[in-house]
Amino acid sequence: MAAQGRRILIIDDDPDITRLLVRVLSRDDEKTITDACHTLGEGLERLAADEYDALALDLGLPDGSGVGNVLRVREQAPELPIVVVSGIGDEEVIFEAMQNGAQDYLIKGPLVPKMLSRALHYAISRKNSESEVQSTMAKLRRTLMGTVNVLATMIELRDPYTAGHERRVSQLACAIAPRMGLDEDHVEGLRVAASLHDLGKIAIPSEILSKPGQLTSIEFDMIKTHPQVGHDVLAEVEFPWPVSGIVLQHHERLDGSGYPAGLKEQDILPEAQIIGVADVMEAMSSHRPYRSAVGVDQALATISEHRGTFYSPQVVDICLALFEDEGFAWDED
Ligand SMILES: [Fe+2]
Repeated sequence: MAAQGRRILIIDDDPDITRLLVRVLSRDDEKTITDACHTLGEGLERLAADEYDALALDLGLPDGSGVGNVLRVREQAPELPIVVVSGIGDEEVIFEAMQNGAQDYLIKGPLVPKMLSRALHYAISRKNSESEVQSTMAKLRRTLMGTVNVLATMIELRDPYTAGHERRVSQLACAIAPRMGLDEDHVEGLRVAASLHDLGKIAIPSEILSKPGQLTSIEFDMIKTHPQVGHDVLAEVEFPWPVSGIVLQHHERLDGSGYPAGLKEQDILPEAQIIGVADVMEAMSSHRPYRSAVGVDQALATISEHRGTFYSPQVVDICLALFEDEGFAWDED
């Protein structure tokens, strides 16, 4: 039942109890190494000096009492599984201790020595499972972001005249988003959508994408299919964010003059409104096959001119502040 070679610390001011618990834990599993101390200060010192797999913690110590003991330990060893072993049977204290990170709570009594070994085992197993889930999630996230980066690189290779466009749009969009109150998770979704917003251009002949000079109306109609194509490709992927919807809407404009659906105002996702502004800012600030860079000042004048008609007033105001007051600059290639 017990894990092999686990190392347990007991903090309890009653030497009779620590002696009993040490004896029972060692008897249950001879490989268990159990240390005991009698004050919170001494316990924290032990935790700083050695690695433990779990802690049995009393709430009534000479230098610390109540749930505060759990908090002090968590402060120093946030990942350590804690089983409270206390004479306090008050429901509120038990609830508070569990809410503040104790994995289990045993009320002192004749059965505690027998129950402690099992409680510690479960506390350690639960903590290990949580860590495994977290590291799997982190791995999946890294894989996802790696795949997104590969796709973004492929888009750039297809259209070398706009190399770096996706990355720079993404950088500006992610600078605007937190200032609009979007939380970290939404910003992450925005980063993915911005990195892939022109994915649909892979379906457009490269002669049209890199054509110097004016496009014919048929060519422009072809260009206008890219949000839908990008959406249809990305809709196949189960992202934890509405990436395909954002990509679909990044050329929609507040007054309904955008494409592909002519959506208006609140029907356009905030992330798509942000990319709409970041996209035009980047495009005008960079060279294109059919024109040289118009420049940041002209780009800012353009988004100001269309503030409230094409572009969200809030996004435009934040973008202006970023460039004019906060010295925003795109990272070098
Ligand atoms: Fe686009």
